[in-house]
Amino acid sequence: MKHLLSTHQLDRTQAIAILDTAAQMAATQDREVRKLPTLRGKTVVNLFFEDSTRTRISFEAAAKRLSADVINFSAKGSSVSKGESLKDTALTLQAMGADAVVVRHWASGAAQRLATSGWIHASVVNAGDGTHQHPTQALLDAFTIRRHLCAEPAGAGLDGLTVGIVGDVLHSRVARSNVALLTTLGARVVLVAPPTLVPVGVQTWPVEVVHTLDQALEAYPLDALMMLRVQRERMTGGGAAFFPSPEEYARLYGLDATRLARLGEHAIVMHPGPMNRGLEISAAAADSPRSVIVEQVANGVAVRMAVLYLLLAGEEGAQ
Ligand code: CP
Repeated sequence: MKHLLSTHQLDRTQAIAILDTAAQMAATQDREVRKLPTLRGKTVVNLFFEDSTRTRISFEAAAKRLSADVINFSAKGSSVSKGESLKDTALTLQAMGADAVVVRHWASGAAQRLATSGWIHASVVNAGDGTHQHPTQALLDAFTIRRHLCAEPAGAGLDGLTVGIVGDVLHSRVARSNVALLTTLGARVVLVAPPTLVPVGVQTWPVEVVHTLDQALEAYPLDALMMLRVQRERMTGGGAAFFPSPEEYARLYGLDATRLARLGEHAIVMHPGPMNRGLEISAAAADSPRSVIVEQVANGVAVRMAVLYLLLAGEEGAQ
């Protein structure tokens, strides 16, 4: 595997290999000296055209813990704001000897373009492109679910588990990435969203769809509930066209203390962040013992270490 662009490219064996490698990486992070020499001499460029906190920081931490050199590039404050194109930016990175480019871009397909254009020879990792894909987020979500809900995580898929993905599915690259990965790993996925926030063509996805959170809590044995951020920045008119009001949205789709109490005792609550507290998730739910939201962030470092290692350590790494 040269690039990681989408969870659709991963079969079950490859996905489990990444999760197992991430588990080994996570084990090294409990040691006194957390740094590994594995990617010494390699250069990883973080190329971010869109805002990020978790993904950017965790890719940087992952690359540094593998001893790679890291160059952070943010479009804000760069020559992109003077009109420089993706191609010219890529050629600059090539000139700097990048071995891997971790790219986040507002345009769906930007990572694919970078990987297949011939502008650079580096491995490309998609860190989120438009509403399309965010594969390392789905991998860290699967890793977190597996750790909590599988008795013997090593080598395991997610067979027999039911995951609810709730909210703004239409604009969510996290939802698209998770639907593909979780079902590849054997989980049953239930989407919970208002009809206005369900993508056209969802009937071809390997999911079931319901239109209120109460309906999902009633009808499905949910093992994990993944709350999505309402992406108001991607909604023209501030969201008014998609739901009547934030209060109405919270009433039908928000995870509050009452709904939290309806989940099975073993069930976990997830959110990719950043959260809109009081809209898709209440403080009571976000901060409850059921919440694994902070742990998702920590697991992101181990998963990104695994991805960089498998991409950059070549055949030896892939084994
Ligand atoms: N989950 C996620 O992608 O968060 P950031 O936008 O902060 O990177």
